[in-house]
Amino acid sequence: MQATDGTNTAFTEQPVQATINGMTLAFNDQGTGLPLVFLHAFPLNRTMWAKQEEALASQFRIITLDLRGHGESDAPLRHYSLDQAADDVHGLLDHLSIRQAVFVGLSMGGYILFAFYRKYAERVTGLVLADTRAQADTDEGKQARFEMAQIAYTQGARAIADIMIPKLLSPLTIHTRPELVQHVRAMIEGSQVSGIAGDLMAMAERPDSIPLLKRMTRPVQILVGELDLPTPPSDAKLMADRISHAHLAILPGAAHLSNLEQPGPFNESIRSFVATITK
Ligand code: MLT
Repeated sequence: MQATDGTNTAFTEQPVQATINGMTLAFNDQGTGLPLVFLHAFPLNRTMWAKQEEALASQFRIITLDLRGHGESDAPLRHYSLDQAADDVHGLLDHLSIRQAVFVGLSMGGYILFAFYRKYAERVTGLVLADTRAQADTDEGKQARFEMAQIAYTQGARAIADIMIPKLLSPLTIHTRPELVQHVRAMIEGSQVSGIAGDLMAMAERPDSIPLLKRMTRPVQILVGELDLPTPPSDAKLMADRISHAHLAILPGAAHLSNLEQPGPFNESIRSFVATITK
């Protein structure tokens, strides 16, 4: 949300920034112990993970970052790709001297984890794939992305927030939790059009990751809101059936942004998953 002085009121702390692959990226780095790296959804930013930072930073080292194009990171007008996003995450790990981590990616964050795994599997201790899917876009899906990019270009981020909010949150959340809705709106409206359009093109050209699933040998926790419409439980089950070390949990009462709508069960699932891979 832009305040009158131009600051983004969704951010409460002074960000830490690093130059990675020629871009300034903003991130939070809290706690000590096993590193957990969180990748946000489209078109949000790292503040979507505030409840995870709050609950988990006493036990783990929690890294959240604004992917390029979002939040307080650079958002140049140029070609975006999910491989490039994976390279940015890899660059940040090197910057922080983190050899291996557990990665949590929600929706677009999950798509980036597939790209990351293809390139840098040796850096992965485990993966949490939340409200995401392995399939590439259909032709209609790609077309819808190009139309949305055009809307972002002609009408701005506010129009994108109007379109996205009913897809991201359940009707009950929209009617009963105005602060949460406002937070999601602020994240979307705080994104630059270059980043929104860039991500839409990047997601449209992402490859099918289904062939990768059988080759994924690290432990995987799959999470999905039972009411998720963009990436429904059937997509989560498809991944769980094909990954040999996957465990699936369906979170009641959550739609697409399950970590925001049901943070308690979401955090507990992460805790239990990490306990199984570190014992
Ligand atoms: C997201 O939440 O990141 C998006 O819904 C992903 C998508 O549009 O495929």
